[in-house]
Amino acid sequence: MSELHTPHAGDDRAKDDDVVSLLMRQHGDIRNLFDEVEATGGEERRNAFRRLVRLLAVHETAEEEVVHPFARRALPGGEQVVEDRLAEEKAAKETLAALDGMDTDDPTFMPRLLQLRKDVQEHARAEERYEFTHIRRSTDATNLAAMAKAIKAAEAMAPTRPHPGVESGAANMALGPVAALMDRTKDAVRRAMGKD
Ligand SMILES: [Fe+2]
Ligand SMILES: [Fe+2]
Repeated sequence: MSELHTPHAGDDRAKDDDVVSLLMRQHGDIRNLFDEVEATGGEERRNAFRRLVRLLAVHETAEEEVVHPFARRALPGGEQVVEDRLAEEKAAKETLAALDGMDTDDPTFMPRLLQLRKDVQEHARAEERYEFTHIRRSTDATNLAAMAKAIKAAEAMAPTRPHPGVESGAANMALGPVAALMDRTKDAVRRAMGKD
């Protein structure tokens, strides 16, 4: 392939041995997927939306399992920082669950998607500002890499790009609802952290 290589979620060639870089890249992937859902229609929009739902579910679950517990312990004022982030995540997850079963061509889909986008982006900015920057200052490269490994285990469950021939409606249905994906993500993350 002659095209320039752009790192994306699930890409092992990307530099992602630092949990903060990895999560910030996922924030970028999430932004790109919102763009894709907005710019497309019909089957293409449906598929892009499925990828967005999966990445959001996997991303937030991994944060809740890996970086929030660390921030709570290690950052000054960490308890409050994490409580605020969890409240934002809870709100975003509720909107996500409501949108998940929706027909992406429904006239009420786009206004709800835009609301979700606004909430998710404000949340991501707050994480980057109040949590991620401080995480990097509070630990060493070994721990950043250990946390990154757990995030990567989660990320493997959420491809951000279409895989021709795989992304059929049937394949998407087989993935099950968001709640089940979050459970599987939790298990994968805990395994990667050696917790079970
Ligand atoms: Fe989050
Ligand atoms: Fe995040």
